[in-house]
Amino acid sequence: MTTVTELLQPVELDLEALLSDLRSLIGAGHPILQAAAEHLFSAGGKKVRPGIVLLISRALSSDGDLSPRHRRLAEITEMIHTASLVHDDVVDEAATRRGVETVHSRFNHRVAVLAGDFLFAQASWHLANLDNLDVVKLLSRVIMDLADGEVKQGLYRYHSGQSFSTYLEKTYCKTASLIANSAQAAGVLSGQNNQELKQLHHFGRQLGLAFQIVDDILDFTGSDQQLGKPAAKDLASGYLTAPALYAMETHPSLAGLIDREFASEGDLEKALDFVHNSDAILRSRKLAENFSKEAKEAIKWLPDSPSKKALSELPDFVLGRLY
Ligand code: IPE
Ligand code: IPE
Ligand code: MG
Ligand code: MG
Repeated sequence: MTTVTELLQPVELDLEALLSDLRSLIGAGHPILQAAAEHLFSAGGKKVRPGIVLLISRALSSDGDLSPRHRRLAEITEMIHTASLVHDDVVDEAATRRGVETVHSRFNHRVAVLAGDFLFAQASWHLANLDNLDVVKLLSRVIMDLADGEVKQGLYRYHSGQSFSTYLEKTYCKTASLIANSAQAAGVLSGQNNQELKQLHHFGRQLGLAFQIVDDILDFTGSDQQLGKPAAKDLASGYLTAPALYAMETHPSLAGLIDREFASEGDLEKALDFVHNSDAILRSRKLAENFSKEAKEAIKWLPDSPSKKALSELPDFVLGRLY
């Protein structure tokens, strides 16, 4: 299977530069917050989001070169993503991330809340300094969506009545919005027309939905070690994702277990059995496949280049994480 590093090869050097730029961007300021942010940036991460921004920017550039604003946009995208993870791990009470301790476990909750805020604030400042109102609107909308997605997810915990469309809306807010809007913003900086901007947004949206659904499947099928973060936690925490929602259709009694928050001995094991002994995982995979296919369709118009090729292979890479 292709690794993400192989896939992002056309922008490999750009991503290396991104990491050192991110370090110097967060460099000035409070040592403890800097240490907290540095902790996660050093642990790495797949860098899928800035990778997408850079690939789109290169694919759209006539001489194949990147402008400093495109680079800055990629940095802002990774900063927003990392900030959201620092906060998400507090909310989810997760002990590991990117194979290392989460910020709140390594430091404490206060530091994690502040470090996340610090990163969001830095991202907003650099965003404003791009001096492009359309880009500011796209990316500040993402920050709204992220908060909205986390709040929605919290409100619907253990709600067996949650509809599939609520799940998809929440998934858009939590994950797809950042990929969609940063992809579109790269197009804005390259001066693309409205039709093309819509397609770039659609590419990021469908890819983001597929990405999160795959992540939701991996929560049921993967291991802590493979994921670099705790597995098998979503259902136990009351987060109902595609596999659980589908399993409820085959096994209606799963709803009862969820409603009583797995209070009786053996409830959670029974619930997990329902998910595994149904077509829930398979149907979730099919759903992710459909979104991936639509993502691929949305960028057919890009001129041929190594970057375009990588972008077209990304949807399959996302699905490949399941195998
Ligand atoms: C984690 O995103 C959050 C989800 C949307 C599932 P990634 O899996 O891209 O995390 P990193 O950046 O590679 O650690
Ligand atoms: C994804 O949420 C994190 C954000 C997009 C804010 P999850 O809780 O589903 O992701 P993991 O499993 O912690 O990476
Ligand atoms: Mg989480
Ligand atoms: Mg979460």
